[in-house]
Amino acid sequence: MSAEILTQIAIEKAKQSKISQVDFNNLPFGQICSDHMFVCDYKDGKWQQPEIIPYQNISLDPSSKIFHYGQSVFEGMKAYKDEQDQIWLFRPLENQKRINISSERLAMPAFPEDYFMDGLKTLLKIDSDWIPQTEGSSLYIRPFVFATGNGFHASPADAYKFVIACSPSGPYFSGKVKVLIEEQYSRSANGGVGFAKAGGNYAGQFYPTQLAKEKGYQQVIWTDDNTHEYIEEAGAMNIFVRIGDTLLTAPISDRILDGITRKSVIAVAEDEGIPVEVRKIKVIELIEASKNGTLKEMFGAGTAAVISPISGFGHRDNDYDLPEVENSYAARFKKRITDIQYNRAEDKFGWRYKV
Ligand code: PLP
Ligand code: COI
Repeated sequence: MSAEILTQIAIEKAKQSKISQVDFNNLPFGQICSDHMFVCDYKDGKWQQPEIIPYQNISLDPSSKIFHYGQSVFEGMKAYKDEQDQIWLFRPLENQKRINISSERLAMPAFPEDYFMDGLKTLLKIDSDWIPQTEGSSLYIRPFVFATGNGFHASPADAYKFVIACSPSGPYFSGKVKVLIEEQYSRSANGGVGFAKAGGNYAGQFYPTQLAKEKGYQQVIWTDDNTHEYIEEAGAMNIFVRIGDTLLTAPISDRILDGITRKSVIAVAEDEGIPVEVRKIKVIELIEASKNGTLKEMFGAGTAAVISPISGFGHRDNDYDLPEVENSYAARFKKRITDIQYNRAEDKFGWRYKV
């Protein structure tokens, strides 16, 4: 699937590329940005002329509402390059739709689909040399929108900026992840903004995650805010559990991000004939399954993290280790999904999008 570019985008190229300074064999995650960025301002009730300009600082009035009231949402996507140097995206229209779902919840204007897709494709073509080809690396794409409108009145801004920045990136996690089941703090609540990719959702996670790190865990597993009895999501990933041969994941709600990787894992599992249960998962069920040996795997799923196997979980003062399993679901799903992303396998789902 792909489409031609119809949007008129003003393009100013960088005078000099920074690419020779980058070690593509040693890429961190999300630290280096490519030569250009896509920008579009919203004012006077409409989105203005979209532009691609050299990657640069953004200057804002100190009373801009982003600084005070946090009107800011983002997306996470990746571009992949295959052996023939063709560029691919993975289910990009899902991200396009989701950024507008997030914006609506924060009383921000929707960004048009054609601006989003045409801006993204044009940017990727201009910065195509920045898309890594090494295994496990890709160009991480960060579309975001934030309030530039001024004033300390606590009300929605009248001006916004939409930006797409790109970062050639290596893996988000190195190795397996040990997680802590969180029972004191909550990431989200009924009627809140948990389902949106709002910047503030992540700020609220940093402190509890820092406390978990001090105890030797890399991630927090969030439980429901009401009872803390059910597991819901990891910090930047949806969560999956394998008990026996059944794959379990929590249902989407207004507290949980409707992850694109999550949907893809469910589809691949069903395609492979694996029993899938989308239902509430009790913490006590995990502990019992760990004790009786039926808890085989846990893993997180997300664009940045791909499929991240979990080595064990902490709950209160106890640690529960997960066994090493042969032919793990995590490894199988990761291979199926990344083979589609990098154009190494047939895409029976129609997820791959040619740039
Ligand atoms: N949950 C949260 C809180 C996230 O930040 C992410 C990352 O985007 C995900 C889940 C996974 O979503 P996706 O697979 O669409 O990247
Ligand atoms: C992604 O997976 O793309 C995300 O947005 C997670 C991010 C917080 C690194």
